[in-house]
Amino acid sequence: MKRSDMCNDVDEKKIGKVVTVCGWVHKKRNLGQLIFISLRDRTGLVQAVIKQDQKDLFELAKNIKSEFVIGITGMVNARDEKDINPEMKTGKIEILAQDLIIFSESEITPFSILDKDVKEDLRLKYRYLDLRRPELQKNLFLRHKTAQVIREFLNQNNFLEIETPVLTKSTPEGARDYLVPSRIHPGEFYALPQSPQLFKQLLMVSGFDRYYQIVKCFRDEDLRADRQPEFTQVDMELSFVDVDDVIDLNERLLKKVFMEILGKEIKTPFLRLSYKEAMERFGSDKPDLRFDLEIKNLNEIVKNSGFKIFDEAIENGGSVRGFKVENINFSRRQLDYFAEFIKDFKSDFLANILIDKTGEYKSYLKKFLSDEKIKEIINLFDAKPGDSILICADKENKIVLNALGNLRNYVAKKFDLINKDEYKFLWVTEFPMFEWSEDDKRFFAVHHPFTAPMDEDIKFLDSEPEKVRAKAYDIVLNGFELGGGSLRIYDRGLQKKIFDLLNLKQKDIEERFGFLLEAFKYGVPPHGGLAYGFDRLIMLLLNQDYIRDVIAFPKVKDASCPLTNAPGEVFDEQLEELGIKIIKKDSGEEN
Ligand code: AMO
Repeated sequence: MKRSDMCNDVDEKKIGKVVTVCGWVHKKRNLGQLIFISLRDRTGLVQAVIKQDQKDLFELAKNIKSEFVIGITGMVNARDEKDINPEMKTGKIEILAQDLIIFSESEITPFSILDKDVKEDLRLKYRYLDLRRPELQKNLFLRHKTAQVIREFLNQNNFLEIETPVLTKSTPEGARDYLVPSRIHPGEFYALPQSPQLFKQLLMVSGFDRYYQIVKCFRDEDLRADRQPEFTQVDMELSFVDVDDVIDLNERLLKKVFMEILGKEIKTPFLRLSYKEAMERFGSDKPDLRFDLEIKNLNEIVKNSGFKIFDEAIENGGSVRGFKVENINFSRRQLDYFAEFIKDFKSDFLANILIDKTGEYKSYLKKFLSDEKIKEIINLFDAKPGDSILICADKENKIVLNALGNLRNYVAKKFDLINKDEYKFLWVTEFPMFEWSEDDKRFFAVHHPFTAPMDEDIKFLDSEPEKVRAKAYDIVLNGFELGGGSLRIYDRGLQKKIFDLLNLKQKDIEERFGFLLEAFKYGVPPHGGLAYGFDRLIMLLLNQDYIRDVIAFPKVKDASCPLTNAPGEVFDEQLEELGIKIIKKDSGEEN
């Protein structure tokens, strides 16, 4: 029996023809004299009928159960008017079976493929069954198509797709590495790449000019809804470009992806916000711009008010800030919850001003601030009757902004202020180069140590490194960091200075990046690039909440794979060959 058509292609145009379809039994109904089989393949469903007068076929069909893999040959007939299913592309026809083969039987599956409410643990343990469901097939189909569109665009723009090693050395992204022991060099390890960063820079030194790769990256970090330990990047690097070139190319790429995948016209150029502005206006370096709730600084209004919390915050270099929510007067319970919520972000002060329908305001701040001051705050926000203002204060600006940024997202989600059909892109630029770590008493690179500083800030490198901004940019979509990149340093003197500032020891530098620095002795083009989180892009294209739903075989929260049970123990001989002894954590005992 040779398949002639995919299920979903058998529509009214095929009426009167004999077709053969193959697939899984989605549903079977036995009406006594007729057996209906709904057959499913990757493309969709089609209905076949087996009549009692075809004795052998009918007997065979009686034994068929859900998820059997079968083939059916038959004549395509128009359905009676009353039996037409307008929801289905194949809803106007049915196949009158003339031949039937059972290729393989199926036991009762651990969950019904039709059931939409299956626990995720079970779905992931039997992921191959889960993947039979049309929703997931749709996700992976879209993933495939998006990869094709991206490849096509980059190929047309003179990029070369080049693979880079997976067994390699630690890369500079700063998460924990996954290590692979070497058998040939006992006691030594490869690191799985957190990104192809160093190799793509080497490819620029080699003169490839424009490189890309859709590539697996590995980071041993805590999982979140938008994070996996192994994930895919669309990684690119370009020579002889500036920030605007990279941004322009990527705007054109995203425009094409959204048009070809979703049929959506997205407007370019995208908004660009400096890191500082993004933080001050939205309390986040990946702000969701589908809603307002813009943060404003109240220092000028409330300074020297005599209210201790505000005065202390401002005197210590911190701030008092807030945002307005239109048309909601929050309840006591809701406000209490917000105060609890911001504690997770180390903030312990939340005040509010509620303006009722008549324009009168209610606020606990009345006890401390004059009527005039409160009205000034209301005016600053241009707040109207029915609106609320939420206010945070702290001695550290970072705490105020982070708390308000997170509260802003929470309130928007909880009170349905987000238009789910919108796609709000922006570039966040001018990131700080360095971040001071109180614990380690040293600076860390915010992006990675090869990121170039902005020309006008190089003068601060010696005196005030915290002021130096980087030629780095993130592409943000609907509150997610979709990708990030930078222009790189190609001057060895400047690179050395940055390493010194990061307090990296010569030996560590040699050990980790020696090969790149060596390469930089032999003629380096100015270069820069960007990498997208491909899984995140697909998740956002599909409007899904979890990255797992766009990955065929994802890991769960504890980084394990419920399907294969990886990671797992290995045979003693394997460990011996690698020269590895396991120390059991609980007992301290060696194995
Ligand atoms: P970065 O570390 O910002 O940059 O990573 C680029 C993008 O990869 C995605 N991403 C992840 N997606 C899923 N799970 C994860 N654990 C995960 N970690 C990162 C994000 C992120 O924006 N080499 C540089 C790029 C460059 O400078 O060209 C890099 O890897 O969407």
